[in-house]
Amino acid sequence: MAKKLRVFAAVAMVVSLAATTACSSSRDEDSSSSGSGSSSNLIGIAMPTKSLERWNNDGAHLEDLLKKAGYTTTLQYADNKVDQQITQIQNMINQNPKVLVVASIDGTALGPALEKAAQQKIKVIAYDRLINSTANVDYYATFDNYQVGKLQGEYVVKQLGLDAGKGPFNLEPFAGSSDDNNAKFFFSGAWDVLKPYVDSGKLVIPSGKKLASDADWKNVSIDGWSSQKAQSEMDNRINSFYTGGKKVDVVLSPNDSLALGIEQSLESKGYKVGADWPVITGQDADLANTKNILAGKQSMTVWKDTRTLGDQVAKMVDQIVKGTTVETNDTSSYNNGVKVVPSYLLAPVVVTKDDVKTKLVDSGFYTADKLGL
Ligand code: BGC
Repeated sequence: MAKKLRVFAAVAMVVSLAATTACSSSRDEDSSSSGSGSSSNLIGIAMPTKSLERWNNDGAHLEDLLKKAGYTTTLQYADNKVDQQITQIQNMINQNPKVLVVASIDGTALGPALEKAAQQKIKVIAYDRLINSTANVDYYATFDNYQVGKLQGEYVVKQLGLDAGKGPFNLEPFAGSSDDNNAKFFFSGAWDVLKPYVDSGKLVIPSGKKLASDADWKNVSIDGWSSQKAQSEMDNRINSFYTGGKKVDVVLSPNDSLALGIEQSLESKGYKVGADWPVITGQDADLANTKNILAGKQSMTVWKDTRTLGDQVAKMVDQIVKGTTVETNDTSSYNNGVKVVPSYLLAPVVVTKDDVKTKLVDSGFYTADKLGL
């Protein structure tokens, strides 16, 4: 996993994108010198679902940047349904866009659709989630997914004092959707940090989930990243394994949608903030979870400022269309089974109650008002 990440200021990216765009008034006529075979200035954007806050923000921000840079866009959401996403991508390809930006639902299901894109010389950027088992993905832009999990694991270690020899603590581990390539990176990042404490007995898993190595992550995955499924899984674990006064001390939740369900479960089982509420991790800084952090119901979230991802992808789109060098900073971490996809990795950031204001409000990600601050 690449350790050296360059984080570009959002403003700098927008400025540089606008500047390069301004110099290329002949983009439409100049398709022969561009990286794409299409003569339109259409960019297709395929997003997984509107049901999660982050994807709405991602889609809207990217579309906005591209429109400001003079592109036409088609933005589609697929309700987390793989077939629907494939149909949407096929329809986009029929419109012959310059570039396709895809945040996949199932990263292994798009090969056949993307073959047609390659025939038409449409370049493909995998957005946030890698597209697997195909040669027809040109670039990948994401946050460092392994690092997301690592930050969650390190937070748990510090918060519980495991590194100071404290324990044992009861841990309930969860992982993300089994069809999402990111989910295994999140889990390995966290598990590489936590497993030594499980092995030494300082972290105990009362539900008995078998996690001999991080390759076992699917034993604790929650399909579709569903809050409801996470809630009922947590209900089941508490009902079956936390009898006779036994308490959950810590929950490894890979993201905020799972954390939300887990927090609802804990609440319904009588856990109380300030008394026996466990340490809970998350990711995305979704609004409901950020409010829960302020209320003490979630300990942390790993914030991925999706504006910077949109900025980077808009820049890559522009570089592809102009036929200039497409900026990447990692050419070894993301092998999709057919090739290593040149990637641009951004750095995720831990947010706790103490720094919601300095990180999320001062950066303009949320207004103080929205968070009730
Ligand atoms: C994204 C996370 C998100 C999850 C559920 C992952 O691929 O990287 O940010 O929480 O999908 O949508």
